[in-house]
Amino acid sequence: MIDGTGMPETAVVIGGSSDIAAAVLKLLAPRRLRSVVLAGRSLENLVQVGNDLRGVGLQSVHCRHLDVAATASLAPFTAEAVGILGQVDLVLVAAGQLGTSVLEDLGAEDVSSLVATNFAGPAALVTEFAKYMVHQGYGRVVVLSSVAGVRTRKANFVYGSTKAGLDGFATGLSDALAGTGVTVNVVRPGFVSTKMTAGMKPAVFPVDAQAVARAIVRGLETGQQVTWVPPKLRYLFAVLRLLPSPLWRRLGG
Ligand SMILES: NC(=O)c1ccc[n+]([C@@H]2O[C@H](COP(=O)([O-])OP(=O)(O)OC[C@H]3O[C@@H](n4cnc5c(N)ncnc54)[C@H](OP(=O)(O)O)[C@@H]3O)[C@@H](O)[C@H]2O)c1
Repeated sequence: MIDGTGMPETAVVIGGSSDIAAAVLKLLAPRRLRSVVLAGRSLENLVQVGNDLRGVGLQSVHCRHLDVAATASLAPFTAEAVGILGQVDLVLVAAGQLGTSVLEDLGAEDVSSLVATNFAGPAALVTEFAKYMVHQGYGRVVVLSSVAGVRTRKANFVYGSTKAGLDGFATGLSDALAGTGVTVNVVRPGFVSTKMTAGMKPAVFPVDAQAVARAIVRGLETGQQVTWVPPKLRYLFAVLRLLPSPLWRRLGG
């Protein structure tokens, strides 16, 4: 059950070896979290994260192979995770890949694979868990979107467009779930220093995974629907999304 402060006892994490997800779980472990299912493509990486979490007091960690782009595996995975945990208080969707947006390097397979990994798969999986949570009568879904989806830019337009799709899906689902006891929090970080961005030049207002984790936990405590990290990006993007295209192209890197 989720307690009065919004803290979950059980969680399913998609992209369980994500640096941001691991930082969130490290904050939740000493609060109330007792049991998690970590899902991703590398069991080795998941086991490593699981061992770290046991070190900070998490009682029970279950690691499962899941490629979120493999649609046929999503409903069976949902049923398995529910079976393991008994009740699912929180689903955290952190799976994602940056891919490339250099036109000469892009083929049809690359684009559809990124759409499947960052948008279609997570949206399909969240649908399965949302239906289960409505039946359960409560639950919290946290979806890692990105400011890259607020206005897509030429340097990462493929990634940005997948996040725009996921963001729109999650905010719409949040409205559709009103009154059911199930809520969705869409998280829009800017540049975060993690293995996804290793070696890249930081964009404006960079943060680390711990800052995103703190914002997500605050969002759980306060029942936020949309979380910008850092918060000032909300105001910056209110202006940036109105910039004329020629200017955006010049700034958009
Ligand atoms: N870092 C940033 O600047 C930033 C900014 C805004 C939003 N975000 C978003 O935040 C989320 C977490 O990112 P992060 O920075 O923590 O990066 P990360 O450490 O690279 O984590 C990404 C995770 O996604 C998993 N993943 C990739 N493809 C997958 C697939 N097909 N099926 C299942 N899992 C898959 C990876 O594990 P495996 O490869 O082992 O499967 C990895 O655990 C992502 O959705 C990202 O788009 C990141």
